[in-house]
Amino acid sequence: MNKSSNLETEPLFLSACWCKPTSRTPVWIMRQAGRYLPEYRKIRSQVDFLTLTKTPELAAEVTLQPVRRFGIDAAILFSDIMTPVEGMGVKMEFNPGPVVTNPLRTASQIDALRIPDLNENAPFVAEAIKIIQKELPVSVPLIGFAGAPFTLFCYLVEGQGSKTFSQAKSFLFAEPQLSRMILEKLTDVMIEYLRGQAQAGAQALMIFDSWAGLLADEDYKAFAYPSVCRIIKSLGHLDIPLIYFPNQGATLLETVKDSGADVVGIDWRTSLSVARHVLGSDVAVQGNLDPMALFSSKEDLGSRIDNVLREGGPGPGHIFNLGHGIDKNTDPDRVAFLVERVRESSQKDLY
Ligand code: CP3
Repeated sequence: MNKSSNLETEPLFLSACWCKPTSRTPVWIMRQAGRYLPEYRKIRSQVDFLTLTKTPELAAEVTLQPVRRFGIDAAILFSDIMTPVEGMGVKMEFNPGPVVTNPLRTASQIDALRIPDLNENAPFVAEAIKIIQKELPVSVPLIGFAGAPFTLFCYLVEGQGSKTFSQAKSFLFAEPQLSRMILEKLTDVMIEYLRGQAQAGAQALMIFDSWAGLLADEDYKAFAYPSVCRIIKSLGHLDIPLIYFPNQGATLLETVKDSGADVVGIDWRTSLSVARHVLGSDVAVQGNLDPMALFSSKEDLGSRIDNVLREGGPGPGHIFNLGHGIDKNTDPDRVAFLVERVRESSQKDLY
């Protein structure tokens, strides 16, 4: 852990990631750049999603939109978890989620998966990060990210999003050896991909395990957790915060505690106080307002926000966020209200 940075100049978000005391709770929002913002929709009406992620100037512009509008405490690179998988030789489109042209099912498909480094894989990502860093205020760190190997496996084998991922899960249980080969290759690629983002200027790295909650703890330990640990271990020397988000991971937290992650993202189903109790005081937590709470009255929203702050405190190491990505029909004014409320309430004594 990096404890050496200067308390006065270190951005709030980074201090909270390192579990250091902060003057207030930092806040950012998963999917903060996206379709709920009119300025995003304007750009998206001219280019498709993949083109947007592959055009550094546009990806940078869209990354900066929520920072400008809300004065949020962290920016996250505009891209997708599937971006580095294309470089492995997998063809796909977005409609609106990822759709893989030839889902992985055979040993020869798996053998053919390439393991490129960031420069040959996604040079536009490093380019976008450099542009963003020129424009971003020093108080607002940039988060780079990747999908966790198990979550990427789900999309690659299923071929598209699903509630149960029954194709992917049946493949996992029927073909454990082939599954491990896919997971290992994905782990190798994600390590390089994340390292490349840090080299280009990302100041924290987040691993999205959106489908971790599909697995019982025993199967999570057998298939998903080892690759997360290997990624975290390989990037530890970078000395930047590593955030792991096991979505719907309430039953996995005892295991996740030992992953080495500096910050664990918590969805809205688990209270932050329970999560903190399990994870201990050395691990920061990030979350966890239900994204749908943004549709409640301002009064209700305000008290829900205060509750999340209460559950996340009183100790240091809480980053306010939603418990998952923001809904595309959210009113941006509600987000402005949320950011303001977190700022005000977290400076008050809520206990
Ligand atoms: O958070 C941000 O602002 C950064 C951008 C970001 C996107 N996707 C942009 C996006 C991030 C961090 C992601 C991660 C991602 N992508 C995850 C992990 C987080 C999670 O939500 O669990 C997953 C599972 C994906 C795969 C994916 N990409 C899905 C399921 C979808 C459809 C989403 C939807 O809301 O319908 C996408 C497309 C996508 N990725 C959009 C955005 C803004 C919508 C694309 C559009 O403009 O049409």
